[in-house]
Amino acid sequence: MDRHKVKRQRLDRICEGIRPPIVNGPMPARPLVALLDGRDCTVEMPILKDVATVAFCDAQSTQEIHEKVLNEAVGALMYHTITLSRQDLEKFKALRVIVRIGSGYDNVDIKSAAELGIAVCNIPSSSVEETADSTLCHILNLYRRVTWLHQAMREGNRASSVEQIREVAGGAVRIRGETLGIIGLGRVGQAVALRAKSFGFNVIFYDPYLPDGVERSLGLQRVGTLQDLLMHSDCITLHCSLNEHNHHLINDFTIKQMRQGCFLVNTARGGLVDEKALAQALKEGRIRGTALDVHESEPFSFAQGPLKDAPNVICTPHTAWYSEQASIESREDAAKEIRRAITGHIPDALRNCVNKEYLLLAAQWSGIDPATVHPELNGAAAYRPITLASDFLRILED
Ligand SMILES: NC(=O)c1ccc[n+]([C@@H]2O[C@H](COP(=O)([O-])OP(=O)(O)OC[C@H]3O[C@@H](n4cnc5c(N)ncnc54)[C@H](O)[C@@H]3O)[C@@H](O)[C@H]2O)c1
Repeated sequence: MDRHKVKRQRLDRICEGIRPPIVNGPMPARPLVALLDGRDCTVEMPILKDVATVAFCDAQSTQEIHEKVLNEAVGALMYHTITLSRQDLEKFKALRVIVRIGSGYDNVDIKSAAELGIAVCNIPSSSVEETADSTLCHILNLYRRVTWLHQAMREGNRASSVEQIREVAGGAVRIRGETLGIIGLGRVGQAVALRAKSFGFNVIFYDPYLPDGVERSLGLQRVGTLQDLLMHSDCITLHCSLNEHNHHLINDFTIKQMRQGCFLVNTARGGLVDEKALAQALKEGRIRGTALDVHESEPFSFAQGPLKDAPNVICTPHTAWYSEQASIESREDAAKEIRRAITGHIPDALRNCVNKEYLLLAAQWSGIDPATVHPELNGAAAYRPITLASDFLRILED
């Protein structure tokens, strides 16, 4: 067979498997919007009913999502209990916007979404106060030992003499003068700092991504390195977003840089802490106590994983964000963002698009003749259209 014809056939086969970028344009007359990992749409429905059909999937993975949703949904609402990798995103054939009902979006591959023409939004204001309040509850609990005292009473311990009180409340520490180290001084981190100051904590923070001056506006002490923060804190609380650079930020090595017997609180993301290293440090008393709202594997179970036989652990099931008011507000805000996507132009009409930069880049590249672009140019090899283009070129050159 003609050599060029064989190459052309191979190229055609590859092209069949590639989804063309979604170009912004008019949406279908009555677009389908799906809540992926929940079943209650009563808050969203009144906001969307005149512009979209709203369905729920109640799925924990894309394998559980109905084909109609995969083929037709243009909008998706989601909580933190489902993950959308590139492979998952590719299953959606008409999707243009995803809104995370919450602030963290580490469970969505936002770069891949952009390359597939899908805008991803979050609700950054959601639950800032609730998460900060829950964090303070955890910190106070570690210092004042409320959970453990409650447990002791439940188990029949009736401390009455001073000696008995000393025994049951042993480990309780005065807060004034203690140093609280905050890793990640974003919305929640700042709210925690303000609250902690009023309890008498000396507050220090580490956040390499913030411009100079935040420490002045909030009256906090900034440290330049993670090591500085670890070495100078009596209690460390995590409030950074989870990203490709900080998985297991707290590990055996960084734990060894902490003060002997310090406390650790995590209401940010489970992936920030190596639970195996934490369990070991708790057993050895290097960490005196820990309070965790988020875990490496969720839903968390005390019966499984490295923390199952570790002492001085307080856990809550990723509920730091929850209050009835916060839940309703963030669902309303998410539905309004979907509405803006349906009635306006994506991404300009969106208020909290977290992959706008990638989306614009991907759109820019998809409008360029791939054959004229060198794959290394401007780091373009990281973007799918270019990777594919270089694949095309390689095949043609074979
Ligand atoms: N447990 C819950 O229910 C709950 C609720 C809300 C938010 N969260 C989580 O809390 C965290 C904070 O939320 P937010 O709304 O304040 O986010 P945010 O984006 O406002 O703040 C995150 C901060 O972390 C900083 N950061 C990123 N990587 C860092 C690193 N390696 N070291 C130090 N700082 C780093 C960023 O510069 C930013 O200032 C997120 O992980 C979010 O997912 C959890």
